[in-house]
Amino acid sequence: MVARQVNVLLVTIALQGHMNPMLMLAKRLVSKGINVIIATNNVASDRILKSSKDSTNFPTAQNTNPKPPGISLVFFSDGLSQEFDRDENVDSFIKALRTTGAKNLSILINVFTAQDKKFSCIIFNPFMPWVTDIAAELGIPCGVLWIQACTVYLVYYHYFKHPNLFPSIESPDEFLELPGVPVLKVTDLPSLIFPSSPSIFRETLLDFIQKLDKIKWVLVNSFAELEEEAVKSMACLHPIYPIGPLVSPFLLGEEESTSGSIDMWSAENSCIEWLDEKPPSSVIYISFGSISVLSQKQMDNLAMGLKNSNRPFLWVIKPPEKDFEKKGGELPATFLEETKGRGLLVRWCPQDKVLMHQSVACFITHCGWNSTLETVVAGVPVIAYPGWTDQPTVAKFLVDVLKNGVRMKVEDEVASSGEVERSIVEVTIGPKSEEMKKRALELKEASRKVVADGGSSNQNINQFITEIIGGSFLQSITE
Ligand code: UDX
Repeated sequence: MVARQVNVLLVTIALQGHMNPMLMLAKRLVSKGINVIIATNNVASDRILKSSKDSTNFPTAQNTNPKPPGISLVFFSDGLSQEFDRDENVDSFIKALRTTGAKNLSILINVFTAQDKKFSCIIFNPFMPWVTDIAAELGIPCGVLWIQACTVYLVYYHYFKHPNLFPSIESPDEFLELPGVPVLKVTDLPSLIFPSSPSIFRETLLDFIQKLDKIKWVLVNSFAELEEEAVKSMACLHPIYPIGPLVSPFLLGEEESTSGSIDMWSAENSCIEWLDEKPPSSVIYISFGSISVLSQKQMDNLAMGLKNSNRPFLWVIKPPEKDFEKKGGELPATFLEETKGRGLLVRWCPQDKVLMHQSVACFITHCGWNSTLETVVAGVPVIAYPGWTDQPTVAKFLVDVLKNGVRMKVEDEVASSGEVERSIVEVTIGPKSEEMKKRALELKEASRKVVADGGSSNQNINQFITEIIGGSFLQSITE
């Protein structure tokens, strides 16, 4: 353990898929004796505080000072009201975050410093590149946690260096070859690079890439054995620290040094009892993460395909934060009646426990990077049904490189009900299903090895800690 108290500040956007890897990084650091403060913008803070209390422990820095090492959670205002729809008005949100949010984060850090809490480093989310300016101003070394796949990083990196090399959305038959990345079609590229996505995302990612020389550590939520070529290729651009998979210790079969979650919604834990009643490897688990909402057509076809599959299913349908009628598709009226006893719908579930449950046969996923890593660690084969941002690229990587599942064919972003049914058959009992299950289990084993003593991710995190505390970590853990 680290002999003196070392504090690290992790800064993240309050989005579930962004907070989760930061929290898991925090848990890893705490297990190695580092005290961690997680700072996030104050949207949904009431719900987050409630769920973190329910799930046990971590105090907010406002009300108590945990006995170090531990994790505490602090909020800074982005200047927008709680009711402001940040998903719908992403441009205003990101701008508010980098102006008012930046000012408030800076004030918060100064309050800590005045209380004699000095940070050995700040690690930030890549969608908040302005944190580098705050760190430089305060003289604190900083690093980034790249929360998506290295494969996706490489696409963005090369896009911002050589945009002309990239096919346009109007050239669906063109291919793109990049070092360390599977050959990509236009439909495999991350949607944020296209003009149909808000330009604020491109601006922010470009800003991040341009600030790379101010960033001392690039931590990535991946590992060499998972993204071998991409990790090698990324390491040729600048030093990186692959420390993934940053997933819940439960998935890795580890004991938690610090329990607790920062969930924005309460999980319906009763679904585990429902799973207990189902035969082994029988249930189709379906979730599209915390942001994506299916259109009416996508919903109709998925429901019909599940109905026709005649298999049990557990489907997470998270109502959108706002304007449900306007944004989301609804289930066909007769669906629940027709699948009675066979299916369970929940608004939010404990995904780690679900994926580790022996009744789960496969995961229909939108290919968010956290869900992808979680299914890899759980050894569950996938049916990829990607939506936007990094998801199409991850789907391509899953099918071409990992080979632990299939990707649904879509037309205008919609998979037909027949395609849903066909994919389920292909992954569960099709001629290649055994091969996919075998791959899934190999990946599960590999992911456990890298975080164990002597594993590559464990060594990388030790190296990072050695550097932030000035070279005494290896000595102090042996004391
Ligand atoms: C976002 C982006 O959409 C995604 O593309 C990017 O890779 C990460 O940020 P999100 O869409 O929420 O994330 O998906 P994902 O990365 O899979 O994260 C969702 C998290 O919520 C996972 O950790 C998952 O375990 C958790 N979850 C999901 C639950 O705990 N319960 C649920 O019912 C559903």
